[in-house]
Amino acid sequence: MLEQGSNRSALSRRDFLKLMSAGGIALAFAPFVQWGKYMPNPKGDILGKAPVIIPGGTHANIHTFPLNHAEVITYPSTGDIVLDEEAFRKWQLIRLPEEFGGSAKDVSAFRVYSMVCLHLWCLWKYWPQEGQKKGQCPCHASTYDPITGRATSGPAALQAAPSNVLPRLDLEADADGYLWITPPKFETRANGIVGYGRFLPAA
Ligand code: FES
Repeated sequence: MLEQGSNRSALSRRDFLKLMSAGGIALAFAPFVQWGKYMPNPKGDILGKAPVIIPGGTHANIHTFPLNHAEVITYPSTGDIVLDEEAFRKWQLIRLPEEFGGSAKDVSAFRVYSMVCLHLWCLWKYWPQEGQKKGQCPCHASTYDPITGRATSGPAALQAAPSNVLPRLDLEADADGYLWITPPKFETRANGIVGYGRFLPAA
């Protein structure tokens, strides 16, 4: 019995080592693989115009959304609470600080970027504190410019285009100031591909 137990334990140690080694290989090649192609593909969803709903169920409005503030929004939303928790559906809705144009009473004051970090897919978020005012990933400290979505430091900034710029969603506002997501094209030269990146338009 004891011997069988030892064998089981040796096997599980071997399996564990194999797993560790597979994980190591995957990480080593991570910067060179177009991971975005393997992410769950939002093209399978119906990508229509959708209201910008912030946590708590409120429809975001230009007249009430605070300056230099961010909320997590879900797009495309399915209405299924499990599916809607998938990382590729999570976006940061950011109202820029005043000095970056955030007090404009139109959609130019806002940005919406995929929360999936372009390095190894942790979820980053916007830090509004004085001296920061940027996106930052908790895993390896990549930072993102809130105006363009471009990685400015850390490992994501070392990746070649388009894997150094976050995918984005575009917004429009109705006559009452309510924000809406316009139907995106998840392609690198349009809204980008979640987990892979986006080409910035030529200046
Ligand atoms: S996963 Fe974000 S910096 Fe590594």
